[in-house]
Amino acid sequence: MNFLQNISLKAFNTFGIDVSARQFITCTSINDLSEILSVNEDNPLLILGGGSNMLFKKDFNGTVIKNEIKGISIVKEDDQHIYIKAGGGEVWQDFVTYCVAHNYGGIENLSLIPGTVGASPIQNIGAYGVEIKDTFHELTAYHIEDKKLLTFNKEECKFGYRDSIFKNEYKNKLFILDVTFRLDKHPVFKTSYGDIEAKIKEQHIEVLTVKAISDIICDIRKSKLPDPAVVGNAGSFFKNPVVDKAVSNSILANYPTAPHFKVDDNHDKIPAAWLIEQCGWKGKSIGEVGCHTKQPLVIINLGHADGQSIFNFSQQIMDSVYAKFNVTLEREVNIL
Ligand code: FAD
Ligand code: EPU
Repeated sequence: MNFLQNISLKAFNTFGIDVSARQFITCTSINDLSEILSVNEDNPLLILGGGSNMLFKKDFNGTVIKNEIKGISIVKEDDQHIYIKAGGGEVWQDFVTYCVAHNYGGIENLSLIPGTVGASPIQNIGAYGVEIKDTFHELTAYHIEDKKLLTFNKEECKFGYRDSIFKNEYKNKLFILDVTFRLDKHPVFKTSYGDIEAKIKEQHIEVLTVKAISDIICDIRKSKLPDPAVVGNAGSFFKNPVVDKAVSNSILANYPTAPHFKVDDNHDKIPAAWLIEQCGWKGKSIGEVGCHTKQPLVIINLGHADGQSIFNFSQQIMDSVYAKFNVTLEREVNIL
């Protein structure tokens, strides 16, 4: 077992924060995992995928297990659907590319989301009107303390907006080994979100394909979101808040054009990007930390920011949004 000591995590988190881990090991199979866990008495443990939803405020005084369990295989199929299992350490975009190449529909709107397949159910990744719960079939996970394999079907995952059982009851208890998705052989495309329809018209696309939609999503994302290989970030730093109708009504009284989306009769979702922009943060920076010019929900590392400065910056945003709108933003990024 090749446990590396005092390793920098800079290359293993998309914010590019230069902290270190006391121990670091790569895991490529379930056998690897049980061996790692049987010899490792070091605690705490951190399971790391692509590090694209993490903010390290300090060195990690424990063992990082980097998930590299790969593999894509067809489980079963019928006329309508194909069930495909992907290893938790597969890069999400590689899996999307595989499905797009085979014309299997369902996750094309989730193109270009960074990270791994194994992390995708944790916050029920979502974009452009689709969440992974829409194609999720089941997953296999290893219960670290009980040393046994568990299977979760869709209902058992308790998926919600950027939420699942893995962020709650099972937080830090499981290692997600593989995920099985149910893809469509004859997909019906979801094109109603944002600029998708406009792009279809602009490009004169008459027959929609999985690839055409995936390409459009990639274009839209590239035009709005910073590439972590160039500018450190972890995507949306906050969730979009779901607020009581009374709160959205009072915002609308002062800002009649404020964007808001009905969640149910008593609640609305208000884009955090709008709230943050109204507070004057868009494009603003303090030291080495900034708010992205095209999407203020994304906090960026302008160079050599440390995790604590990014965290403090996020707190200032939260304080100003609360002071102006009486809305409490919740961080989406995992803070360590
Ligand atoms: P990591 O950051 O490595 O880990 C995240 C959490 O999951 C940690 O708590 C970790 O311990 C745990 N974890 C990871 N793998 C496992 C495993 N196998 N078993 C158990 N626990 C595990 N998210 C969206 O939903 N929609 C978007 O549109 C989106 N856009 C983004 C754009 C950019 C530019 C960036 C940088 C991020 C974006 N994200 C988005 C956030 C991020 O890509 C997702 O949250 C992604 O699923 C994180 O995957 P990861 O492998 O990098 O997880
Ligand atoms: N807006 C502004 N100013 C801006 C940008 C946006 O006011 O500069 C407002 C507009 O009203 C716009 C609305 O915010 O209509 C929504 O913006 P956008 O479509 O860019 O999406 P978002 O709600 O900001 C969410 C996800 C993203 C996901 C996109 C696309 C969350 C927390 N974020 O962002 O996910 O890619 O929708 O579906 O739900 C992530 O989770 O890391 C992430 C990037």
